[in-house]
Amino acid sequence: MIPNTILFDAYGTLLDVSGPGRRLAEKYGDIANDIGARVRILQITYSWHSSMMGRYAPFFDLTRHAVNVAMAEHGFQHEAFLDEFMEGFAQIEAFPDVAETLVLLKEQGINPVILSNGEKRYLERAFSHAGLMEQLSDIITVEEIRIFKPTMDVYRHAQEKCLVRGFVSSNPWDVTGASTFGFRTFWLNRQNRVFDGLAKPDDYSMIRSLKDILHHMANS
Ligand code: LAC
Repeated sequence: MIPNTILFDAYGTLLDVSGPGRRLAEKYGDIANDIGARVRILQITYSWHSSMMGRYAPFFDLTRHAVNVAMAEHGFQHEAFLDEFMEGFAQIEAFPDVAETLVLLKEQGINPVILSNGEKRYLERAFSHAGLMEQLSDIITVEEIRIFKPTMDVYRHAQEKCLVRGFVSSNPWDVTGASTFGFRTFWLNRQNRVFDGLAKPDDYSMIRSLKDILHHMANS
């Protein structure tokens, strides 16, 4: 059992999902950003379909399918694009404030743990590349139970492994899931967005920067 844990969602929260499209925009133009944004919506949608049907498929495979569909929707045919996008997704970068926040949390005696719909090998690759593996106390993924967030089983699975003090996600559907499960939940709203989830404002705390979590953890 990992004590004193704060759980973090990975994609979109610590890892910048706009990166793969943005990098390819240098080569292919703005359409790469549009495809990237659509892939994000589709990959999440497919993960929900997969959970509802009880037909688990790895997030990376769902993402590959999403890229194909998004390319077709945009009438965009470039053979190399699919593999280049997936390579970019495998090498996805962390937001600039992640390293410092994780170090400071560790100094407060808090264990940062990832709880993600992704696969461990890709998450390890991304967090190693960002030099963050040492700051993470564990990476828990849905591969272990073959169903995606926001299914309650996933949050329960994390609770069986860690003493959870808080859960942080940028994704309103994930905030809704974690708060419904009963975690003390933080919505990281980096871009001043409207909360498009089902949780009510009293169910979670909104933070505008990742570092705000330090203050909340120190005062509780
Ligand atoms: C995660 C994504 C899907 O669970 O937000 O890391």
